[in-house]
Amino acid sequence: MTQAKIQLRGVSKSFNRGTVTALDKIDLDIHQNEVFCIVGPSGCGKTTLLRLLNGLIQVTEGSVMIDGRDADEAVGETAMVFQHFGLFPWKTVYENVAYGLRLRRRPKDEIDEQARRYIGMTGLKGFEYVYPHQLSGGMRQRAGLARALAVHSNILLMDEPFAALDAQTREFLQDELAGIWAVEQKTVVFITHSIDEAVFLGDRVAIMTPRPGRVKEILKVDLPRPRDMIASKSDPRYMELRNYIWTQLKEDGQGGNGAVAAAGGER
Ligand SMILES: Nc1ncnc2c1ncn2[C@@H]1O[C@H](COP(=O)(O)OP(=O)(O)OP(=O)(O)O)[C@@H](O)[C@H]1O
Ligand SMILES: [Mg+2]
Repeated sequence: MTQAKIQLRGVSKSFNRGTVTALDKIDLDIHQNEVFCIVGPSGCGKTTLLRLLNGLIQVTEGSVMIDGRDADEAVGETAMVFQHFGLFPWKTVYENVAYGLRLRRRPKDEIDEQARRYIGMTGLKGFEYVYPHQLSGGMRQRAGLARALAVHSNILLMDEPFAALDAQTREFLQDELAGIWAVEQKTVVFITHSIDEAVFLGDRVAIMTPRPGRVKEILKVDLPRPRDMIASKSDPRYMELRNYIWTQLKEDGQGGNGAVAAAGGER
């Protein structure tokens, strides 16, 4: 067995001088080039987990290793896509996408080539010189995605990237993302409240418990790849997995934002 790309051992994280335990003794191995989805109720520590992986915050206990190095030494290895786009409103689409490359002091030609490549790949050609407020929500999310892809980090961390979008745009982007990942091999950690999204995109899906967050179960999504929205969703195995996850979340009595939102699927 090769070494896991991302390895968590006994990871706990508490806030407010230990009064709030967000994560409790998490052990997790995420493998190279897998799409690892995480579902769980609101407040169970999903965002906290991503921030630990991104080196933005430190563990209270345990270790987070990326490629065998401490996460805070591997900050440049990861790129994050946020729920609310995270674009600079004062920069054009082009400048937003080029930002991470400039930060990494890449040569000018390379910046231009890569920025244009990912703008094209995410369907934003022709919108290079407009500002985020001139884009639709779906286009803004594409720009956020282009920016994260352009820096070529081999780990992509996505925190409910499609939560703010309407159901149709969301499905289009899921489909596109599955297509992009078929070309650009990446290790992806993808957080979502949508069970459908997790099953359609994931190689595995982790179900978390209510706070303090623990990993309750990890399911392998044994649906064939490349996936396509219609074929995957009509597969009886898809329904089986989806219903199983729903039952697991419901078992924890997740009302409100948890199981109900997840069962609703797209919001
Ligand atoms: N910086 C912080 N200071 C204090 N408490 C925090 C901080 N960040 C997170 N928490 C707490 O940790 C717990 C987990 O929060 P987190 O944002 O990781 O949840 P989540 O699973 O991402 O929820 P959601 O699905 O609503 O986004 C919550 O109780 C939250 O209040
Ligand atoms: Mg969150």
